[in-house]
Amino acid sequence: MTAPTTLFRPFTRLIRIAILGRHFEVPENNTLLRCFQYLAPEPVSYGRFCWNEDCQYCRVTFDLGQGSTSRAALSCKLMAQEGMRVTEAASEIRYCLRTLGLSEANR
Ligand code: FES
Repeated sequence: MTAPTTLFRPFTRLIRIAILGRHFEVPENNTLLRCFQYLAPEPVSYGRFCWNEDCQYCRVTFDLGQGSTSRAALSCKLMAQEGMRVTEAASEIRYCLRTLGLSEANR
């Protein structure tokens, strides 16, 4: 299944991010959770996400590259940025992204 493009905010290019040790290209100008949906359209669409900063199932820890501060955030609110590295992810996210071959070390 391909995610309908209307789910995404308009974008003209893909940016590189890392999720639990693997690199991916995702649409710029979109929230991190929407980028997860870009990578795994069906599982994320059927995930238990409220998309509204309420459920907390989308929690991640991330930084913006080597030497930057590690921060916790809700991926439904956080805009993805070039070079962003997701170092920890809530179990619902890991479950929805299970087909991407993410590192077992961060589970
Ligand atoms: S999806 Fe529910 S808090 Fe982010």
